[in-house]
Amino acid sequence: MIYIKTPEEMGLMREAADLVSRTLGEIAKWALPGVTTRKIDNIAREFILDNGGTPACLGYGGFPGTVCCEVNDIVVHGFPSGYTLQEGDIFGADTVAELNGYHGDMCYTFPIGEVDPAIMRLLTTTKESLYVGIEACRPGKRIGDVANAVQTYCESRGYSVVREMCGHGIGRKMHEDPEVPNYGRKGTGAVIRNGMCLCIEPMINMGSKNIIVDRDGWTCRTRDHKPSAHYEHTLAIIDGHTEVLTTFDYVKDVLGDRFI
Ligand code: MF3
Ligand code: CO
Repeated sequence: MIYIKTPEEMGLMREAADLVSRTLGEIAKWALPGVTTRKIDNIAREFILDNGGTPACLGYGGFPGTVCCEVNDIVVHGFPSGYTLQEGDIFGADTVAELNGYHGDMCYTFPIGEVDPAIMRLLTTTKESLYVGIEACRPGKRIGDVANAVQTYCESRGYSVVREMCGHGIGRKMHEDPEVPNYGRKGTGAVIRNGMCLCIEPMINMGSKNIIVDRDGWTCRTRDHKPSAHYEHTLAIIDGHTEVLTTFDYVKDVLGDRFI
């Protein structure tokens, strides 16, 4: 069931989205060679708590961190660990803040130091595909229109779309209906309407679309161990418009000319 939000709820969604956006800005300060993913997780958790929020991933289904740490071939749901980021890595930080009962969810994949140009193209294409999806996410259109736009954009550039994980509705819960896949057919799925809040999150692979889950039961990797990229925004459909509630502006302020 899709929950339609009132204007008051949309105000609370905006605040949660701002908190998670500022959290990504804090993470950006530490996404550097020589830093462990556990350090970054601690920074994010403390920042969310200091700002009156709750780190919603922590303990969610037993997940042991605030930030899903997606290094290189990790697609989603990597644990924070003693792993030290290396020059040439890519590091996706996916995190969710709850504030006053509502959730903001976002992900940004950071290049760590100098990254192979072919991998940089994977990052830029994946990020562009998020905005292509947002552009297709208009009231009156359908979820399949968004899914198809992301898929077409990425596949026509030689990348593959992960099937097992999707975007989603969001609100009082981190995951609400509808599912928002990154592949599908135009004109299918739920109609996008005023009052919906949705997360679009392309997970795009350099090699094949297939993934495997580690023995920890969480960490999803590409089966061919080629890199995977992931960007995510939380959106709201209000008064016939799509508003992107989260922003990469705080990340941009930190990264300067390293922002992609
Ligand atoms: N941003 C992820 C998502 O969109 C959040 C996963 S949180 C976890 O589903 F707790 F499941 F890790
Ligand atoms: Co999400």
